[in-house]
Amino acid sequence: MPEKKILIVDADVASRNFIARSLVDQKYEVIQAGSGREGLICAWRDRPDLAIIDPSMSDLKGEEIAIKLRQDPRTANMPLIALSSDSSVVRIKSCLDAGFSEYITKSGQAVQMLNDTIARLFGIAAVSEKKGGMLMVFLSAKGGTGTSSLCANIAHNISKNQPEVRVAVLDLVLPIGSIAPIVGYDGTQNIVTITDMPPVESTPNFFRNELPEMKIWGFNLLAGAPDPESSNQLKVGRIWDIVLALKASYDYVFIDIGRSLSKITLPLIQQADLIALVISTDISTVSLTKTLWTYLKSKGVSASSVYTILNRAVGLEGLSKVDAEKILGIPVQAAMPYLSSNFAFANSQHQPFTLKFPKDSASFVFDATAKDMAALSRKLRAQ
Ligand SMILES: Nc1ncnc2c1ncn2[C@@H]1O[C@H](COP(=O)(O)OP(=O)(O)OP(=O)(O)O)[C@@H](O)[C@H]1O
Ligand SMILES: [Mg+2]
Repeated sequence: MPEKKILIVDADVASRNFIARSLVDQKYEVIQAGSGREGLICAWRDRPDLAIIDPSMSDLKGEEIAIKLRQDPRTANMPLIALSSDSSVVRIKSCLDAGFSEYITKSGQAVQMLNDTIARLFGIAAVSEKKGGMLMVFLSAKGGTGTSSLCANIAHNISKNQPEVRVAVLDLVLPIGSIAPIVGYDGTQNIVTITDMPPVESTPNFFRNELPEMKIWGFNLLAGAPDPESSNQLKVGRIWDIVLALKASYDYVFIDIGRSLSKITLPLIQQADLIALVISTDISTVSLTKTLWTYLKSKGVSASSVYTILNRAVGLEGLSKVDAEKILGIPVQAAMPYLSSNFAFANSQHQPFTLKFPKDSASFVFDATAKDMAALSRKLRAQ
């Protein structure tokens, strides 16, 4: 693959040169750094497309390098490969947790594995950012605002309105996901088991063929962490590659982030085509949402990609759309009425609201919101 720049960070010059030769033979441009600090400088100054890092350097541990690179917007999504002589499970896990995309042990097969891995990561990265499926993230400042229910139901309506498209829903709410119980999925596959798979297996093809299909919902589900214990095992460094692989095999990728804003989910929000910000009508949620929005703005999120949904989850009372807009300083695009116990009822029967109550006025709001969000995301892509 031509015109790609790869950074090698390794204190051992012989090892660096050995890898560099193989990469140059494949027409990659190679830059080298002999220490962790030098590696960081090269990564931010020379903007490579990928970095191969020996995690056991004396000045900076690989984990610290990965964390720093992931925290900087210039390198937050850069594929990072750890190439290490340490084959211990503990080290592999700590590197993947810190943000490495892959971990390869220095051995006789290392060069071949490295080449395969680089080709795959570049293949996946080709659909990054504004390419591949639309990335729609659902976010709230407070729990219980209806984020998961809206995420599942709007994904359902998009799929219903455009039967030719493929829709995936990923639940990233930690420590316990809740889309699975809403849609009635009780299988064993979830984001924790998927991040645990060898990275070479989690290809776009895998996600196209192996994610369980939620038939009446019209989407395929990658369920969330089933419990806090499993959630602690989540290899967060793998999430970005998994999202890119999903974008390579689906037309829409919905992610329920709920209130789990963190350094793991921020890059996803920054790269999303549309951010559905779900607020309920109580003053404390709207004020917290204002704080959340101010923070997102400071991280480069544009108001044009925010789609605010005012969900009357807590009852008939509460703020009006105009009140909420005044506090937030951004328009509210959709207002979901209070659905009394019907919503909880549809959820408890694992059914989409629009299927269970097609004549309810809220079904029209779901339908219109889904159409509006699809149209807006297409318009933003076209810009
Ligand atoms: N507009 C509404 N009218 C009536 N009930 C609603 C409405 N929106 C949400 N609910 C109910 O609120 C409850 C919480 O919804 P949901 O689990 O989707 O919220 P959440 O924001 O994802 O919560 P959590 O913080 O637990 O992730 C559900 O029982 C749902 O049926
Ligand atoms: Mg939820």
